[in-house]
Amino acid sequence: MLEIKDLSLAIQHQETATMAVKNIALTISKGRVLGLVGESGCGKTLTAQAVLRLGEYQGIERVNGDILWHGESVFDMSDKRLRAMRGGQVAMIFQEPMTALNPVFSIGSQMVEVIRLHLGLSKSQAKEHAIHYLKDVGLDEAEELLNQYPDSLSGGMRQRVLIAMAMSLHPECIIADEPTTALDVSVQKRIIALLRKLQKENNLGMLLVTHDFGLVAEMCDDVVVMYAGEVVESGSVLDIFDHPAHPYTQALMGCRPEMVKEGESLTVIEGQVPAPGTWPKGCHFSPRCSRASEACQIKAIAANAWQDSGHQARCIHVQEQA
Ligand SMILES: Nc1ncnc2c1ncn2[C@@H]1O[C@H](COP(=O)(O)OP(=O)(O)O)[C@@H](O)[C@H]1O
Ligand SMILES: [Mg+2]
Repeated sequence: MLEIKDLSLAIQHQETATMAVKNIALTISKGRVLGLVGESGCGKTLTAQAVLRLGEYQGIERVNGDILWHGESVFDMSDKRLRAMRGGQVAMIFQEPMTALNPVFSIGSQMVEVIRLHLGLSKSQAKEHAIHYLKDVGLDEAEELLNQYPDSLSGGMRQRVLIAMAMSLHPECIIADEPTTALDVSVQKRIIALLRKLQKENNLGMLLVTHDFGLVAEMCDDVVVMYAGEVVESGSVLDIFDHPAHPYTQALMGCRPEMVKEGESLTVIEGQVPAPGTWPKGCHFSPRCSRASEACQIKAIAANAWQDSGHQARCIHVQEQA
């Protein structure tokens, strides 16, 4: 239902445009969870936000490619159509819930307003609806909660409120950008269990941005690994865990997928992700790659340089190791 096709995005700053995300392709189907993984600064958030055209407010522009929602280009949508899609059909859950909550309005007034806007319910119906969904995410004192302000809630409760808000609009797809990174480990586990339950019960499509392979193993059906603005590997979760092909994926997983336990983060790789505008020629990962040869540094490597049915890697050395 959601297809990102060959998407490239640039950051506009004064007179210059710097390529930040290049030729991204991924598909999310009903009932399936796609994990978008990579270190910080690889372009995951830019990609995720492009689906709802949220980057446009920060000077991010489409250079080429398209994003199709049920076959319709989001870039061709009118403002009205886009507003209906945002939240109503595709919900977004952010890393920091406060970015999506307004501190000066009570939880109740914020929820009632979006519910009325999207579902056209009366005020009292919308309130009942909000209470139902708050209880559904485990917030038992929902009635009292409606009168509280975001500041008075813990991080875990705020994230539950956002999830309730998202679910109350009956979305078909959820985009969750590091939804638990800002939370305590014990709270993370409960939020993940909740997201998983809601995803399964409602057969939602989901784009889960994360740097946590434990979470990928637990939740995802498909995986796309990004490095420095490009997709370097994509495949099913089994492909990626059983035979990680790209040296970057292998490094992220510590080369030993069986060793990566639930809740564990990615291992640290020497060096840093190059920022947009400083990408090396050829393979973007080559300066940090132990397997890099001269050929890797010369010309751009195709996304499907290596492929085996649905599993693809942007590396010219994969064949040798197979
Ligand atoms: N609005 C912006 N202006 C300038 N640079 C940006 C902007 N948004 C993102 N970037 C840069 O683009 C790169 C990718 O960012 P992002 O998508 O947030 O990465 P990720 O989510 O994978 O950590 C980073 O180097 C970031 O600093
Ligand atoms: Mg991010």
